[in-house]
Amino acid sequence: MLVTGKKILDHAHENNYAVGAFNVNNMEALQAVILAAEKESSPVIIQTSEGAIKYAGLDYLSTMIRFAAQKASVPVALHLDHGTTYETIIKCISNGWSSIMVDGSHYDLAKNIEVTKNIVDIAHAAGISVEAELGRLSGVEDQISVDEKDAIYTNPKEAIQFVKETNLDYLAIAIGTAHGKYIGNPELDFDRLEEIKKLIKIPVVLHGASGIPEDSIKRAVSLGVNKINIDTDLRQGFTDAIKDVFEKNPKEFDPRKICGPAREAMAEIISIKMKMFGCAGKAK
Ligand code: G3H
Ligand code: 13P
Ligand code: ZN
Repeated sequence: MLVTGKKILDHAHENNYAVGAFNVNNMEALQAVILAAEKESSPVIIQTSEGAIKYAGLDYLSTMIRFAAQKASVPVALHLDHGTTYETIIKCISNGWSSIMVDGSHYDLAKNIEVTKNIVDIAHAAGISVEAELGRLSGVEDQISVDEKDAIYTNPKEAIQFVKETNLDYLAIAIGTAHGKYIGNPELDFDRLEEIKKLIKIPVVLHGASGIPEDSIKRAVSLGVNKINIDTDLRQGFTDAIKDVFEKNPKEFDPRKICGPAREAMAEIISIKMKMFGCAGKAK
């Protein structure tokens, strides 16, 4: 069933676990997420970036994901990941997304509050929940290049003000994660996470969670992270499985025999993440 992001994440916040938010761009990835969520009896967030919408088409993604969600035996939210333009956000709100992210993290605090609050008012009037981001991740984000040196971790005091003044539903914070592949070991600022969570008392979101070791993920969840975004690990698993098909049979040309194993590999990765995040078994 299709539900709002708030419904899924408030339960996770109250019961101290995290829900996986998995990026999808095509049918096989969508099926992999649903397959894993049903196998693990887990609530799930399916997210589409602006890049995914450009690639697959808003109408295709809306129709396909809402159909999958309605058919699924577990709660599913359809979320816009890193919404940066008013136009895309409004289109998603009008086309069945049940959760949206307004990403004003590249603005100063006052402008981020202004942009976020405007979207919160519109989305809440439509019954849709909102994620926003305070602080910046290093690395390359969806259509936004953030120089490594510009990375600014979330300020706990600003987080209280941001939540109070915008009335958003869940907050993405910067505590040392980055989008994409890590070079070296990512070090997370757990003290900062703990402090922010105590102050804001709403679901907290962790972006750039691919490649974070299991013990760090579990610690972050124990300290209050409730939504964990995964994209890179899924892309890698999907593509590795395709490479494997061609290694075994370089002459293969049936797309089903290429994308089928990739779908299975992706579902397996998602299953592992769901157990790690603590959302497996929570659909009941
Ligand atoms: O955080 C960004 C996501 O990994 C989406 O990436 O813009 O390449 O679809 P994308
Ligand atoms: P990764 O690609 O690093 O997993 O990040 C995903 C993400 O944060 C999507 O918003
Ligand atoms: Zn992200």
